[in-house]
Amino acid sequence: VRVVSDADPCREYLAGPAQKNCNLAILEEKDGIGLSIIIDRDGLIADIGYDDVMELKYENQTIEEIIDATGRSVLPGLVDAHTHPVWAGDRVHEFSMKLAGATYMDIYEAGGGIHFTVNHTRNASEEELYGLLKERLMRMLANGTVLVEGKSGYGLDAENEIKMLRVLERAKRELPIDISSTFCGAHAVPKNQTAEEATQNVLTEQLPKVMLMQENGELHVDNIDVFCEKGVFDVEQSRRILEAGRQAGLRLNFHADELTPINGTEMGASLGAEAMSHLEEISPEGIAAMAVKPSIAVILPTTAYLLRLKPPPVRQMITQGVPVALGSDFNPNAYCLSMPLVMNLACVLFGMTLPEALVAATINAAAALGKHKTHGSLEIGKYGDLLILNAPRWEHLVYQMGDNQQVIGQVIKLGRII
Ligand code: NIG
Ligand code: FE
Repeated sequence: VRVVSDADPCREYLAGPAQKNCNLAILEEKDGIGLSIIIDRDGLIADIGYDDVMELKYENQTIEEIIDATGRSVLPGLVDAHTHPVWAGDRVHEFSMKLAGATYMDIYEAGGGIHFTVNHTRNASEEELYGLLKERLMRMLANGTVLVEGKSGYGLDAENEIKMLRVLERAKRELPIDISSTFCGAHAVPKNQTAEEATQNVLTEQLPKVMLMQENGELHVDNIDVFCEKGVFDVEQSRRILEAGRQAGLRLNFHADELTPINGTEMGASLGAEAMSHLEEISPEGIAAMAVKPSIAVILPTTAYLLRLKPPPVRQMITQGVPVALGSDFNPNAYCLSMPLVMNLACVLFGMTLPEALVAATINAAAALGKHKTHGSLEIGKYGDLLILNAPRWEHLVYQMGDNQQVIGQVIKLGRII
């Protein structure tokens, strides 16, 4: 496949995780010579170069398909670094409660919130959950997401957590979107257990069973997560769970310092966590600690917006060298399947610039999942995953709010138009 564009030469943006200038190859309309991208039969980017040079270079080779992107901009496919996509039982009824003033923890402590979703998810079959997941992932893809992190966490026991992970596994086999699976058995404390009992259950039941299936090749789990929060799993319980995950070979990527400042971030940094999410209540010490490795800050604007939380200190993070990534946090509390909307919120509410939001929703999000060698930018050898916009400038993707599918003309996954 050859994507032809009358493009601006590649612009360079600073990409945090690689700590180097990383070429995102944004192609935009400009007078003069454009760029072409060649995608090979394996769906990988084989070449990128100026049209005149490429014209000669590929003159005698069979190009099966030419996609004309003249007058339109071309971007890397988006990456969503944090979602909870497998569940049954929406919580539309809680939306009005929240608008009337109930907090996230009021609802959780009253047995709603995650507990409501756990009941429905436990009662759902794998087939039902797969149907729900498939619809959501295909909508994400239509909104430009080509790689998504997906958590378990509405089972809270070995059987149901494994059921959720198996559903994600099936989606990996059957759908044209890439998934990084996260075991999140410590997402909430079941109603009949103490936090300590729930921690024990994760450590002695859930994690060993998940890892056994992993060894047998039945599951491919990349990351471990825990909701480290006052009234859920405290810092020490979270630390034990994350250490066990690390021991089992998983990457650490967890919910930290969202609703109350409890120094979860400092703990995560001390374990060398690859990524931490939310961080509305991160301390200055937490920012400094994250900058060391660095751990990637996964910022979730939809949740902060819906729950009216204080904005995470994104500017301080960026200036102090913490790479910032973005996620939709899609879940029954924050029903958002659109990364362009997430980017818009990140810019307007948290003061990110448009290039920062783009980096955060592509290469940095890929790095948060350890997938920056294959995803997140248009470079030779990486996946041929790209978006062709019905717009001459890429910023239209973020500027035109809430109507992404009109702006995104084509989503190309591994060289195929979806
Ligand atoms: O990231 N905070 C914990 N987890 C989710 C919410 C999940 C839910 O409410 O169902 C989050 O916001
Ligand atoms: Fe979350």
